[in-house]
Amino acid sequence: MRFRRIELDPVARRLQRVASVSDLRRIAKRRLPRGVFDYCDGGAEDERSLAENTEAFGRIGFRPRVLRAVGKVDPATMLLGRPLPLPLVLAPTGFTRCAHPDGELAPARASERAGLPYTLSTLATRSIEEVRAVSDGRLWFQVYAWRDRGLVAELVERAAAAHYEALVLTVDTAVLGRRERDVRRGFEMPPKLGIGTLLDGAVHPGWTWAFVRSDPIRFANVVGRGPGGPSDGTDPVSLATFTNSQFDANLSWGDVDWLRERWAGPIVIKGVQTVADAVLAAERGVEAVALSNHGGRQVDGAPAPIDLVAPVADAVGDRMEIICDGGVRRGSDIVKALALGATACMAGRAWLYGLGAAGERGVDHVLTMLDDDVRRTMALIGASTVADLTPDLIAR
Ligand code: GLV
Repeated sequence: MRFRRIELDPVARRLQRVASVSDLRRIAKRRLPRGVFDYCDGGAEDERSLAENTEAFGRIGFRPRVLRAVGKVDPATMLLGRPLPLPLVLAPTGFTRCAHPDGELAPARASERAGLPYTLSTLATRSIEEVRAVSDGRLWFQVYAWRDRGLVAELVERAAAAHYEALVLTVDTAVLGRRERDVRRGFEMPPKLGIGTLLDGAVHPGWTWAFVRSDPIRFANVVGRGPGGPSDGTDPVSLATFTNSQFDANLSWGDVDWLRERWAGPIVIKGVQTVADAVLAAERGVEAVALSNHGGRQVDGAPAPIDLVAPVADAVGDRMEIICDGGVRRGSDIVKALALGATACMAGRAWLYGLGAAGERGVDHVLTMLDDDVRRTMALIGASTVADLTPDLIAR
């Protein structure tokens, strides 16, 4: 009998037995204060769209082909005119530092190592420049339509100056969806210290210790532009109050043209939920749409993005690239989306659980697992390249 070597590094020990994204979710749930975990994990209202995003992938199967010489599998593809080793983009997440003090710096570094784009949120807790300072990789910047268009123009200029590659305009947030877990917990950002938070903090000492030692969490990109007027961006406020006071519900297609005049690079419209709007986006000449219901955090009852991929691909052909965002937890989900006509997938919670569970190494772990998963699934269904991923491999 041989004994297993005892792993002394606690993070490596934690990751040793992680076989899936849902394992990381379980660890993140244990390690993060409940309010923080629920902010990351939760969806709008009855969370039907949140559940549907993953369940819809579960309803799609494969028709595996065999004897196809899959000794060499390569999931590389092209996205926005540039090569990509795996059809995956790290989705933007707001307020990432609540999951780990490194916040957005961790996915920026991990995605550079993996050669994948990382999308920085407008509501990030590290700034456009701070993130660029730690990564020479592909960075995208997610834009919300603030009432103050001057602020949007400034953010776009800063993203261009910092060599961000693409703008991702989020269009599903006219007002904020009602995330009832946040309402019940009174979740505010930055997390405020109340009796509940203190108790929660006491039972999550690892998180609390890291949180009190790190510099104050703030909306780093929009410091001084919060609802209370000039401030350092650290005033606690609920996301709903913040969003509803700052975001412009009058955003319309004309604003896409406005953005185009200010940005020379590609534009991705994120939050498209119908074929009709995908067609309008293609007519507007945007380079890509992200089919997305904001991870089930906006309209409860919105369709699962994976169910839109095939009809949108039929309607827009090769006029525009299609990114499927929402519910991606496994490499097989990415393979399904590509076979149905997507160019790539976006995933947010998948890497966020990794960050909450094990910091930057947790994000590395997720990206490696998804890469392995994609290669294994491709081999098992008889596809050597993404060009081999065609709808006939899919069973509905
Ligand atoms: C921010 O975009 C959020 O969904 O919380």
